[in-house]
Amino acid sequence: MNIVTNINEWRQIRNNLTAKKTVGLIPTMGHLHAGHVSLCNRSRAENDVTVVSIFVNPTQFNQASDFDLYPRTIEHDCDILKSHQVDYVFIPDAKEIYQDGYQVQVSENTISAELEGLSRPGHFNGVLTVVLKLLNIIQPMRAYFGEKDYQQLLLVKKMVNALCVPTEIVGCETIRDKDGLALSSRNTRLNEMQRKQAAHFPRLLQSALKPEQIAEELKTLGFKVDYIVEQWERRLGAVWLDEVRLIDNFLF
Ligand code: PAF
Repeated sequence: MNIVTNINEWRQIRNNLTAKKTVGLIPTMGHLHAGHVSLCNRSRAENDVTVVSIFVNPTQFNQASDFDLYPRTIEHDCDILKSHQVDYVFIPDAKEIYQDGYQVQVSENTISAELEGLSRPGHFNGVLTVVLKLLNIIQPMRAYFGEKDYQQLLLVKKMVNALCVPTEIVGCETIRDKDGLALSSRNTRLNEMQRKQAAHFPRLLQSALKPEQIAEELKTLGFKVDYIVEQWERRLGAVWLDEVRLIDNFLF
């Protein structure tokens, strides 16, 4: 497995790949778990070359403390990727990605204004901008995203269509722990008690209860509820357990 840290180095590698070779990209912020591994496996099954990017993107965090606390486990991540036969890991730093000082941004003004966008102003500008940069740098035929961040997936698909980016965006099913909690890099910030409590969130979100009833139940159980809504043929929710924000969704 090769580790690449700058754009020009990757461009040379990309130019030397024969034209017929298909490239799959999994954009990540690191602290990898079985959900990321399933995206890698899917990419490996569908492409000749699999690239994983690891970049804790500062522009998508609307709280400095959340950015600072985001777990960084690069060495462990590389071990995982190596053991799953990933071909390249792209690990740029912020100077490499934001050579313009984030003066140029991608923004969408409809879907991104609701749900996560309401609670996290500027979040989706940061996500879309970095994803477009990564797609332009890596030039994959396919890019893989988990359905857990469903609004993000919709927005990335919309951006790619709107800006005529020649990459297929592949949405992949959420991977869950035994108790139903969606795998997320943020779960490791839950203490033992919170981790047990967190399992009520997916359980209630997929129950037969109405969104208002789910919200009430969750509040009784000690969650702070941001939203529980039904749209895009899904039931989506976001809650807080103290400082940790959890999001999830289920197909209707
Ligand atoms: O889902 C994530 O991990 C991030 O939002 C992404 C897509 C890697 C962009 O930084």
